[in-house]
Order: sequence, then structure tokens, then C-alpha cells
Amino acid sequence: MAPLPPPDPHLTVIPVPVSTTGHDGRVSPSTATSARRSPKPRTTFRCSACGAGAAVWAGRCSACGEWNTLAEERVGVALDPVGAPAEPAQRIADVGANDAVPLATGIGELDRVLGGGLVPGSVTLLGGEPGIGKSTLLLQTVAAMAERGHDALYVTAEESAAQVRGRAERLGALAERLWLAADTTLPDVVAHLDAVAPRVVVVDSIQTVHDPELGSAPGAVGQVRECAQRLVVEARARGAAVVLVGHVTKDGGLAGPRVLEHLVDTVLSCEGDRHHARRLLRAAKHRCGGTGELGVFEMSDTGLVGVDDPSALFLADRRAGEAGSVVVPVLDGGRPLLVEVQALLAPTTIPTPRRQGQGIENGRLGMLLAVLAQRVGVSVADQDVWVTVAGGVRASEPAVDLGVALAVVSAVTGVPVPGDLVACGEVGLAGELRQVGRLDRRLAEAARLGFRRVLVPTTAPTPPEGCLALRARGLREAITAAGLDR
Ligand code: TYD
Ligand code: MG
Repeated sequence: MAPLPPPDPHLTVIPVPVSTTGHDGRVSPSTATSARRSPKPRTTFRCSACGAGAAVWAGRCSACGEWNTLAEERVGVALDPVGAPAEPAQRIADVGANDAVPLATGIGELDRVLGGGLVPGSVTLLGGEPGIGKSTLLLQTVAAMAERGHDALYVTAEESAAQVRGRAERLGALAERLWLAADTTLPDVVAHLDAVAPRVVVVDSIQTVHDPELGSAPGAVGQVRECAQRLVVEARARGAAVVLVGHVTKDGGLAGPRVLEHLVDTVLSCEGDRHHARRLLRAAKHRCGGTGELGVFEMSDTGLVGVDDPSALFLADRRAGEAGSVVVPVLDGGRPLLVEVQALLAPTTIPTPRRQGQGIENGRLGMLLAVLAQRVGVSVADQDVWVTVAGGVRASEPAVDLGVALAVVSAVTGVPVPGDLVACGEVGLAGELRQVGRLDRRLAEAARLGFRRVLVPTTAPTPPEGCLALRARGLREAITAAGLDR
């Protein structure tokens, strides 16, 4: 090492505390060297609710009083002096269009949800409960992409390399260009990016990767956010498509950091009942495309298999001729799906009867029961009511209103709705039936699956060939048309 120059006698030697306020640049060479040798960034804590800073961690923010909101963050980077920006602002019309073309993954249902594939330089977060199949899906994805000629890196921070290899064998994912690394620290992950220079990277999971420079434990909010932030920077700089696995807590949020959702470009969620094979994949946020599409998979012995005809799958277990069951064509994202809405009533044993919706909102269910009582005279005041949308589909749109109402009436009267009938329409507070969006696509899906009658509002378009439209102005007419008023 070259000898250090002698200190300048005119310089005042000051210690260099690494602080947010920065320093004035007058540093003795020896002090500067030692600062460089031991880069010890200071960390402070910031409340994720009110933004107040704190020097030490506390369970409760002293500024706003919220509990468990203090997250560690790194400080000590001196602000650059104001000067010319590295990239001057441009007139918006002069800015080149984003020419990042999505890389098709080769997993059809995933490409459908992503609108073509993973975009180079973007970061995708895949959330889901433990055991739902995140690792399986992503291992299949990187293997498929490696088969298509892209170098792919799978970083496992949860399982050992041998475990992942074993799974890859079962999945047929031992692709030539697929690289595997078992590491848990951020610098190691970045080193692997340098060594492999992959086009697609999976980090499984972001909650188990940590940066040793930060004091907090792996999985702490500050850790997760800092690591994700760094991986976003790396993805942009390298033009690699990065996918992060994120665990989801029981209430559906990503464990700890909702902040991650702001950092990344795309948020995917994998849902389904662990005890059943069906898995639904949705985009909750997608900067590079729409969030409308739904991907449907089934877990098999050889991993996740795309389902081409989900309507048929959702209706496979239906028992036609049961009272309390109605088939509804819903749109999940842009995809028409036929789902079965079921209602069950039971005499209540408590003062306030239960109104429990699964797959539909309880508030909506309560409203429909009130309309039935007030406008049609069908009262279930002394009954507990359960309504479920079979197949784990969330039918949050008003188009299911008519199906829900008819299912309840059918459960009340014990008369089944005809097996070849689907119902679709929004119910207003006056009991009137209202038009819903994209009815043409819904009716086409019903016709494709062999349904012969569609119960719809009067304004509905003509159904496809072979399908008879039963038009109703209101709930009362719809109940008659469905033959439930016997
Ligand atoms: P996994 O991908 O490990 O879930 P996550 O990463 O979301 O925690 O999936 C685990 C479950 O999937 C496990 O219960 C076994 C099942 N599975 C299959 O049924 N078939 C398969 O081919 C594989 C690899 C897993
Ligand atoms: Mg996993």
C-alpha cells in the first residue's frame, strides 16, 4: 500500500461521525481511510405510521402512540451538494416509450396474469400462505425460462440446496441454464448476481434474506424493506427480472412490510385452500400491465398444472337439483367463470342471527336479505344464513346479487333452481334488477358449458344461439321465472 501523504498542517482534523447531516468534507486522510475501512452505517428507527424518527427502538411510537410501528433504517449517507442533475428532465413527448418487452415464462397461466411474462428490470413479489405452492411455481417458472435459453438463478434462503434439487428432480426442472444458490445474506445474493449474470432471479424468500450491516433480526420490517430496496436497484441496473417470495400472515397482509408492495412493480398473490388442489393466481398491482387476469392451477404430483377450463372445474362437484344452489357467471378480472353460489339456512339459537358470506361480502349479503324481506316478503329473521361461493372464488362484484338472492329463496322454499339455468344481475334497493358489465362474455361462457336458460335483467343483450333469455325487471319476476314461487 502506498504511504499516506503527511497531514496538511492547515487542516483542522475533526472526527467523522457518520450522520444524516453529513460533514463539511475537511477530513484528514488517515481518518478518511479508517472510515472507509470500517463502513459502519448508523441505523435509526422510523415510525411507519407517522414518520417520526427515534434513536432507539421502542415498542410504541412516542409521537403518535402506535404500537409496533418503529422500523430500522440506515442513515449516514451525506446528501450530495445540489448541482446539475445526472438526468435532466425531458419534455414528456421526447421520452422514449418503455421498450421493455416481457419475457414469456412458458408457464401459460402465469403469463396470462402477467400480460405476457416477466419484464426485464422489474421486480415482482409473489405472496401467499406457507405451503400454498410459491416455491413450486417459481422453480417451475425459472426452469421453463432456462429451457427457453435464459440464464436463471434461484436463490433459496429457506431450504437447503439439496432440498431444492430434490424438488426440481420431481418437477423435471433440472435445466441446463438454471443456477441454484443457498444463501441468506444480501451481499452473497448480490455476489451471485455478479457471478451468474442471470436474466431472471428468484429470491425465496425476502423475509429470510438479511443484510448483516443492519442490526435487526432477519425478517424485521427494516431488514425486509432494505433488502427489497437493494434488489430493486440491482434489478434495474442489471435489467434482470427479479421475483421475490413473500409470506403472508393470517389476515392476508404480507408479513410485516406492506411497504414492499410500494417498492416492487408487480404484486402477485397465490391463493387457495392448502387441503385442496386448486390454486388461483392474481395480480394485485402491475405496473407493466393490467391486473385483470386470473390464473388457475391445480397442484399435482408433478407440480402446478395450468387449468384450461376453470368453469368446468368449478362446477365439477356441483349436485344439480339441490335447493339453495344457483350457478352465476362471474367475471374474475377479465375472465368469465361459472361458479356455484350456495345458501343454507338454519334456525338460529342466538338473539342476532348469523349472516355469514364466504366469497361474498357480509354487508352485501345483509343488504340482499333486507331487500328480500322488504320488497318480496321473504323473511329469514329467525334463521342463521350462510352463503358461499364454491371453489374459493371471491365474487365481490354486484353481478352475483341475483344468484345470491335466488339461492336464499330456493333455500327458504326448498324448491331447487332448474339445473340448466344461470342467473346474473345486480339487485337494487327497490328490488329492481340492473344491468352488469360484460354480460355478453358471461352468457357466452354459460352457453359454452351447456346452460340453456339465462335469467337476466330486461336490458341484457341477446344470449348466444341455443340459450333462452328469461328477462326480469325485478326480484319478484326473477323468482317467478326461476319457478321458485311454487
Ligand atoms: P411449496 O411450493 O413448498 O409452498 P410454499 O413455497 O408456498 O410454502 O409447496 C408445498 C406444498 O406443495 C407441499 O404441501 C407439497 C405440495 N407439492 C405437491 O403436491 N406436488 C409437487 O410436485 C410439489 C413440488 C409440492
Ligand atoms: Mg417455499
